[in-house]
Amino acid sequence: MTPQLASDGRLRHLLTLEGLPRSTLLQLLDRAGQIRDAAVGRVGKRTVLAGSAVCTLFFEPSTRTRSSFQLAAQRLGADVLNFDASTSSTRKGETARDTLKNLEAMGVRGFVIRHPEDGAVQRLADVAGEGTALVNAGDGRSAHPTQGLLDMLTLRQAKGSDFSKLKVLIVGDVRHSRVARSDLQALRTLGAGEIRICGPRPLLPDEATTGGCVVGTDFDAMLEGVDAVMMLRLQRERMEEGLVPSLEEYHDHYGLTVERLRRAAPDAAVLHPGPINRGVEITDEVADGPQSWVLRQVANGVAVRMAVLEHLLG
Ligand code: CP
Repeated sequence: MTPQLASDGRLRHLLTLEGLPRSTLLQLLDRAGQIRDAAVGRVGKRTVLAGSAVCTLFFEPSTRTRSSFQLAAQRLGADVLNFDASTSSTRKGETARDTLKNLEAMGVRGFVIRHPEDGAVQRLADVAGEGTALVNAGDGRSAHPTQGLLDMLTLRQAKGSDFSKLKVLIVGDVRHSRVARSDLQALRTLGAGEIRICGPRPLLPDEATTGGCVVGTDFDAMLEGVDAVMMLRLQRERMEEGLVPSLEEYHDHYGLTVERLRRAAPDAAVLHPGPINRGVEITDEVADGPQSWVLRQVANGVAVRMAVLEHLLG
């Protein structure tokens, strides 16, 4: 197995936030914050990755992650190749491994990979060449590390860098969410004061995932006094699997409304990774309201992804 850290502690790939040293996490967040603040009012192109090629290799759909990685790589001066599985030789049965090795042979040094299977990006890292860096852009239910990073950058922007007194609530399908897993890992590493997890019982994760968190099914009670609410998308498969009776019932119990949000701290920040199911896990009034940080999350995604690419390939 290829660890994401080299023996000297250098980050070779970014596969997960689990076990990522606090110093590396802070370094990436600080750098992303600098990039974001320097970019205000101008769209400049840097040259740190000039002459390097980066490929976005997505075997699942994406709007935010893929587009922001493309912009990030372009703003660093890289050549960017967008691999579309639906029009590629993947359709003829070519494996992800062979795809990676062929693109590597063309000189691609950085791969941003999304794949539906747990551990798929780790397995590709195992066969990647010495000078190649991989970024996990979401694999199965396992990890979405750059989403975790951009969520932490957004929490810092909303609430400051000291997380020790922060009460954060994660709501929804935590069991099946790679975003929630990466957020939990980052919040723990950054020493969040209290982490609460809430959702219908069939969508709550096992104790190995929730260790140290306050876990409950009563959304109104769990909202009391929190500084940040991280909503998750309800995947429609959960209804087909019988884990959620209906969208209406889910919304009644776990939809974030203006009335419900009043239970949280007065200036509580509302986050959602997108795509949003409007009227299911969150209402329009909250998603577009004054406490929503959703579009600032998206903006922070570009800065985070620039910091990650610069760190791995710069
Ligand atoms: N948050 C997120 O991963 O969105 P996309 O699926 O659009 O990339």
